[in-house]
Amino acid sequence: ENPLDQAARDVLLGNDRGGYTIPTARLYPYQWNWDSMFSAWGYGTFDMARAWQEVDLLFSSQWDTGMVPHIIFHNPDPDYFPGPGVWGATQTPPTSGISQPPVAATLILKLYEMDPKAGLPHLKTLYPKLVAWHAWWMRERCKDGPVAIIHPWESGRDNCPDWDIGMEGVQINEDDPYTRRDTGHVNADERPLKWDYDRYLAILAFGRSVHWNDRAMYEDGPFLMADPGITFVLLRAFSDLIEIGRILGEDTADLSAQHDQLREGASKLWNAEKGWFDAYDLRTGQSANVLGSGAFLAYFAGVSRPALDAHFARIWDKVAFGVPSADPESERFDPRRYWRGPTWPVVNSLIAMGLTDMGRNEAETRLRNETAALIEAGGFWEYYDPMDGTPCGGASFGWTAAIWLTWCG
Ligand code: DGY
Repeated sequence: ENPLDQAARDVLLGNDRGGYTIPTARLYPYQWNWDSMFSAWGYGTFDMARAWQEVDLLFSSQWDTGMVPHIIFHNPDPDYFPGPGVWGATQTPPTSGISQPPVAATLILKLYEMDPKAGLPHLKTLYPKLVAWHAWWMRERCKDGPVAIIHPWESGRDNCPDWDIGMEGVQINEDDPYTRRDTGHVNADERPLKWDYDRYLAILAFGRSVHWNDRAMYEDGPFLMADPGITFVLLRAFSDLIEIGRILGEDTADLSAQHDQLREGASKLWNAEKGWFDAYDLRTGQSANVLGSGAFLAYFAGVSRPALDAHFARIWDKVAFGVPSADPESERFDPRRYWRGPTWPVVNSLIAMGLTDMGRNEAETRLRNETAALIEAGGFWEYYDPMDGTPCGGASFGWTAAIWLTWCG
């Protein structure tokens, strides 16, 4: 066995806080939605009971609306800002008021397939919750076709250039001082700017003021943009949820209809002039005209187009370690700043699933080898400089360890 296998398990176990797993100590000391699902997938390789415990706990914080929140604040921790008091949510345990990329159905199906006997009871209790979460996305976020996000944090790709045009329109609250904690844990050059945080908090203040009412956020909130990333994650997740329903003998006609509707909606993201799937601002109708890694999640959903493939080849050839989160030929490219350039192994694992399903084995092997090389040289970090492989962000990072165990290790 590769010694990194035990090191990866140790990362997950070290981040285990009893039933839930934090992404990394200090920087992210709570349960994050999609991080937690990746951790569960990683546990599935050595402790299936623990894997299901992680998933069950995440879904126990589902809201009555069907939303599964992006952070669950199990234990107050002054290391993180903005904490539960700033979000002002009223649940127990407290949660944030937005969601995150819905990888759950896909990874739950993976866990089930790893051990169907252990998985079946969990599949049964989780199925209606997944159906409700997906219905929430369709009802509250897909009114224009693709998935719209009401806060950049919802996308999981917080400060990617996709959101720049939407963020420019956000009024900041000058007389509402705050202290960031993230830049006390990680080099500030690898984190979003103050410019971003001012706007993240202004949007958050609006959400709190309307008690996170989805309709108010959608209709009157300061930020509303269509997100290629979540759109394709949800599209793929619908296929996997339909498969789960089939396993359970459920009638999945309604899910199929929603899947087809979203697939149709996703085509609205196509920017024919640029030849990629593009974010757009629902308030102004303006296209972002930005190529980001969200566009390549199309592959995860089994969607591809020749022009997109050409861009995929182009940007990959400009870096040593694909897939960069922003276009290396764009002036906004910043190879170490969070989602404005770095390569994220976790996104690679999703793109790779799509490449495998599409039979693009050569590309999948290249992506797997480059991702493994980053981890072998640098350890389990949050993201990496795509040019020279320098590890960035948080160390001992849960989802990077998980995808080593499940995919690239
Ligand atoms: C953060 O705090 O940077 C997170 O990405 C928000 O979800």
